[in-house]
Amino acid sequence: MIEVRDLYFAYDRRGDIIKNINFRVDRGEIFGFLGPSGAGKSTVQKILSGILRRYRGSVKVMGTEVKWRDASFYEDIGVDFEYPNLYGKFTGMENLLYFSSLYRRKTINPLEYLERVGLSADADKKVSGYSRGMKMRLAFVRAILHQPSVLFLDEPTSGLDPGYARVIKDMILEQKLAGRTVILTTHNMHDAEELCDRVAFIVDGQIKALDAPHALRTRKSDVEVTYTYLENGKEKTASALLSSLHLDSEFLQRLHSGTLTGIHSKEPTLEDVFIELTGRCLR
Ligand SMILES: Nc1ncnc2c1ncn2[C@@H]1O[C@H](COP(=O)(O)OP(=O)(O)OP(=O)(O)O)[C@@H](O)[C@H]1O
Ligand SMILES: [Mg+2]
Repeated sequence: MIEVRDLYFAYDRRGDIIKNINFRVDRGEIFGFLGPSGAGKSTVQKILSGILRRYRGSVKVMGTEVKWRDASFYEDIGVDFEYPNLYGKFTGMENLLYFSSLYRRKTINPLEYLERVGLSADADKKVSGYSRGMKMRLAFVRAILHQPSVLFLDEPTSGLDPGYARVIKDMILEQKLAGRTVILTTHNMHDAEELCDRVAFIVDGQIKALDAPHALRTRKSDVEVTYTYLENGKEKTASALLSSLHLDSEFLQRLHSGTLTGIHSKEPTLEDVFIELTGRCLR
C-alpha cells in the first residue's frame, strides 16, 4: 500500500529534516512512527499524505507517487493531524456533513460515530466552543467518514483522557480489522506496542530501528530477574540475568532447597529499547 524509498526532505536552506527514510507498509497493517518531539514524525506524515510535496526520493501510496497526486487522491485516504482544522463556526454535526459532501463515495452515519466518541450531546454546538480533546475526537471521526483504505493519524490519542484514548484506540484497531492500512505517529510507547504491527524508531529525521514491537523488545537487552528467598528466617533479595539463570549456582541452590519466596522478571519496555538503540528518550 505504501512504499517509501530514499526519502529526503528540507523545509528550508537549513538542511534536511528527513534523511534517507525507507520502508514499506502492507494492506491491513498498522505501522507506527515512535520518536521524541522534533524527530520528524509529523513531517513524514505530511509527506506521505501529499501535503509536503517538495521531497526527494520516492513515496508511493496505493501506486501513486504522492508528489504528483491530484484531488482524487483524497477519495481513498483519511488524514487526522495534530492541530485539527475544523470549521469553528459550524457545529460538530455540520462539520461532518460538510466533509461528507466532499466525497463521491458512501460515507458513514455521523450520528453513530459522534455517539461513540462521546460527542452526541455536543453535536449541535459550535466547534469553536469545543475543548482540544473534543476537537481531536471530532477530527478522528472526520478522518474515517469516507472509510478510506489508508489512514494517516498524527498523535491520535495525545491530549485525550484514558477513557477516550481507549475509545479511539479501539476504533483504530477496528479499521485494521476492516482491512484498512493505518500509519500513525506517537511518542507513547504503550500506544505503539498495543496498536502497531510494526514500529519505526525515528530520531533526527532518520529511522534507527524497524520491527514488530515485541521483536524490538526482545532483540537486545537481557532480562533481569529478581528473586527473593528466606535465610535465617529473613527474606532477602538477589538478582541475575535470565540468560544465565540456569548457571547461577546460588539461585539453583535456593530453588532446590525450596527457600525461594518469589521470582520477578523485568522485561525491557519499548522505551528502554528505544533509549538503548538511539541514545535518546521519548520525551
Ligand atoms: N514549517 C516548518 N518550517 C521549518 N521547520 C519545521 C517546520 N515544521 C517542522 N519543522 C522542523 O522539523 C523538525 C521535525 O518537526 P516535526 O514537527 O516533524 O517533529 P515531530 O516528531 O512531529 O515532533 P512532535 O512530537 O513535537 O510533534 C523540527 O526540527 C522542526 O523544528
Ligand atoms: Mg508532530
